Amino acid sequence: MELLARPRRNRRTESVRSLVRETVLSAGDLIYPLFLQEGDEETPIASMPGCTRWSLGGLVKEAVEAYELGVPAVVLFPKVPDELKTSGAEEAWNPEGLIPRAVRALKAACPRLAVLTDIALDPYNSDGHDGLVSEDGRILNDETVEVLCRQALCHARAGADIVAPSDMMDGRVAALREALDGEGFTDVGILSYAAKYASAYYGPFRGALDSAPKAGDKKTYQMDPANVREAIREAELDEAEGADMLMVKPAGAYLDIIAVLRARTMLPLAAYQVSGEYLMIKSAAQAGWVNEEQVVMESLMAIKRAGADMILTYFAKSVAARLRGC
Ligand code: PBG
Repeated sequence: MELLARPRRNRRTESVRSLVRETVLSAGDLIYPLFLQEGDEETPIASMPGCTRWSLGGLVKEAVEAYELGVPAVVLFPKVPDELKTSGAEEAWNPEGLIPRAVRALKAACPRLAVLTDIALDPYNSDGHDGLVSEDGRILNDETVEVLCRQALCHARAGADIVAPSDMMDGRVAALREALDGEGFTDVGILSYAAKYASAYYGPFRGALDSAPKAGDKKTYQMDPANVREAIREAELDEAEGADMLMVKPAGAYLDIIAVLRARTMLPLAAYQVSGEYLMIKSAAQAGWVNEEQVVMESLMAIKRAGADMILTYFAKSVAARLRGC
């Protein structure tokens, strides 16, 4: 055949493919979500095979190992003992709570590791919702935002680098910024879960923390999976309120949202490959139906290609090890 163009020439060898590659995934793009619990025990998480609820000591060891493999950041999720859960979620701002203790331990062991904390009430709230719940079952926006500010200040005082509000209350980014600045924490960043969808993909995570809502669902605050324009609106508001970085969550089923926001904001964009995405890959691989390593790399590459600058993934440590050639 006489062909003007033979695109396959650019795919002929690995060296040529390397030259023309448009997207690069590196360990430095990854944020490693870690679960922790009270006590010295470490508990494998049944709903997320390969993930563990760490003790404080185990958490520090795991985070430092990941950091040494090139993962620059972790984000922390606590399993709060049932007896500490209340309808006012007071444990969320206890300076001796699990998270502030973990932040202090991590910053002492590895000062350069970026420590992110989750801002939301679901692990602390006896109702299992991200916000405070009224007697008639509504999620109270403004009252919740006040509590989120106390929680963020508690994390900032412990040394958190970035707070990441995942609660989807209105106006929380501006309120958090004001609260942080008011106490002199002008260097503490805000990674806002701007477009967080009401997703069934969070199921295994709620199993890991025993944090599923006791009644109702999260559809009055998390977004409808049918919506794109609403994500743009949320992102614009969070940006105007002072967010330093925005997030789309989940990632794999929302690549279009990542691409749309990437085109519209100059802020760095994160995407969260959530527990259900993790579990689907893990369980298919464990059954021998897909190649875990290849599917993980392809799924993360797709999220970067769509426009994410950074990815939260439970595979962070194993991917970093693989990129190192370990
Ligand atoms: C709650 C929170 C959730 C996740 C992170 N923060 C669950 C939810 O909104 O119900 C999910 C993460 C995952 O599924 O991996 N604030």
